[in-house]
Amino acid sequence: MLARILCLVLGYLLGSIIQGGYWLGRFNHIDIRKYGSGNAGTTNVMRTLGKKYSFLTYFLDIFKVILAGIIVNFCIAPHFNVSELLLFLYAGFGTVLGHNFPFYLGFKGGKGIAATSGLVIALIPFPHYCFAFTLFGLITFPLVLFTTKYVSLASLIGIAGFFIEFVIWDLVGFLPLNGTEHVESCIIVFLFAALGFIRHAANIKRLINGTERKMGEKKNG
Ligand code: G3P
Repeated sequence: MLARILCLVLGYLLGSIIQGGYWLGRFNHIDIRKYGSGNAGTTNVMRTLGKKYSFLTYFLDIFKVILAGIIVNFCIAPHFNVSELLLFLYAGFGTVLGHNFPFYLGFKGGKGIAATSGLVIALIPFPHYCFAFTLFGLITFPLVLFTTKYVSLASLIGIAGFFIEFVIWDLVGFLPLNGTEHVESCIIVFLFAALGFIRHAANIKRLINGTERKMGEKKNG
């Protein structure tokens, strides 16, 4: 239990503190949460501050997950008898919680999609783990984005795909997990996806009534 809590707390702190969109907004003398969709994430930084800052936001938001992964790998996992993959998932989920609900910003942050994609990148040194997430994230996300131009729709399909793919890989026995860790890890990945959908509630409403912004559109609201 201690290892899991340490990973969650580590992730939460990194996810909160390294808040790319918010800090780059401050650097430009604005609170990004008062512009566009009100989200402190890559997409809203793109529509408010442009490409350069959105790339920087994305970089910072994936960097924090990679950093959490490195700390788990070198400082936490070696001291506990828990599968490293499970600890990565706890740290990744903590990072998304911190990103979405930063304690020093009134718990109003982003939607966690860039941070979730950082988990895949953090797992690249472990190809058999990484494989459990990549197909949907790396193929469906760009495919949906470039055909529909809706970042939110691509994010939702990508994150649902993460969950489906993880469960499939786990069921076929591909993932290095033991005993109850199988169910536990599937629950955490489900929570990633569920949280992603909850955070996109307003986007889902706009997608349904046809008012969701397409990539590149700048209108407020
Ligand atoms: O990752 C966030 C994206 O899916 C939607 O962002 O700013 O359009 O709500 P936004």
